[in-house]
Amino acid sequence: MPLVTGGAILSAARAGKYGVGAFNTNNLEFTQAILETAEKLRSPVILQISEGARKYAGTENLAHLIADMASRVTVPVAIHQDHGSSLEICKSAIAAGFTSVMIDASHDPFEENVRITKEVVEYAHAHGVTVEAELGRLGGIEEHVNVSAEDAFLTDPEEAARFIELTGVDYLAIAIGTSHGAYKGKGRPFIDHARIEKIAALTPIPLVMHGASGVPQWLTDRFKASGGEIGEAAGIHDDDLKRSTQYGIAKVNIDTDLRLAFTTAVREVLLKNPAEFDPRKILTPAKEMMKEISAHRMQVLGSAGQA
Ligand code: 13P
Repeated sequence: MPLVTGGAILSAARAGKYGVGAFNTNNLEFTQAILETAEKLRSPVILQISEGARKYAGTENLAHLIADMASRVTVPVAIHQDHGSSLEICKSAIAAGFTSVMIDASHDPFEENVRITKEVVEYAHAHGVTVEAELGRLGGIEEHVNVSAEDAFLTDPEEAARFIELTGVDYLAIAIGTSHGAYKGKGRPFIDHARIEKIAALTPIPLVMHGASGVPQWLTDRFKASGGEIGEAAGIHDDDLKRSTQYGIAKVNIDTDLRLAFTTAVREVLLKNPAEFDPRKILTPAKEMMKEISAHRMQVLGSAGQA
C-alpha cells in the first residue's frame, strides 16, 4: 500500500495501547529485514533514516527504495526523518517523500525549541507530513547529538504540555531515563514510569521513546564470541517497554539492536568460512538475525497482529 504518515500509525497505537517500532535503516538489507518482518507479523512499522544514513546511502536512493518496497506490502508503513537538526533537513526529507519528520532542537532553550518546532510543524502540515519534536535531553551518542550523563535531563510534565500546546507537534519524544547506544546503565536501566504516566495524563498525543534497544545478552555474547569487543552493555528490558506502551509511549526507536545483529552475523559467517567472498552468503544470515530481533520487538510492543 502507499506510505502513510507517522501520525496515522501512532494515533492508532496510542489509542490501542501498543507501541510501534521505529527501526533505523541504512541500506537494502536492513529495509528488507524490517519490512518482511512487519508484513509477516501483520504489524504497522516506521522506517527511520538519520542524517548520517542519508549521507551514507543517498537520501533519494534510500527513500525511493523504501517507498517502492512499501508499495508492495499490505501493512501501514511510514518513512521518518530521525533527529532532523534543522528546518532545511526536514524540508529536503519531505521533498524526497518522507511522511514523518523529527525536528530535534532539544539542545536549545525552551523558547527556541518552540520556535523552530513550530516552523517545521507549519511547513510539514502544509505538505501532509506529521512531526516529532523532543523535549528534555537523553544521554548517549546519536549522529549530531553527544550528551554526557551529567548534561542529560528528564522531561518536565507541565513543560511538555505547554510545549505541545504552543507548537502543535504531533508526537513528542520525552527523556525518561533511556539513552542512545549499547550502554544504557548497569544491570536493568532505570525507566521513569511515573514521569511517562504524568506526561501522558496531560496530553492525548503519542509519546516517543528514544534509545529503546534491548541489547540482549545472547546477542552481545555472540558478538564477543565472534571476536567483537563490547563493554558492559545493557538495554531496555522487555517488561519496561511493554509497560510504557500501556499509558502513552507509541513510537519506540530501535537502532543499536539491528546494528549489533547485523555485525554479529557477518562476523560469525566470516569466522566460520574464511574462504567465503560472496556478499549474498555473507549478508543473508545478517538479514535473518535482524528479522529475529525486529520480530521480537514487534511482539513485545504489541504491534504484531494490529494491521
Ligand atoms: P538505540 O540506540 O537504543 O537503538 O536508540 C535509537 C534511537 O533512539 C534513534 O533515534
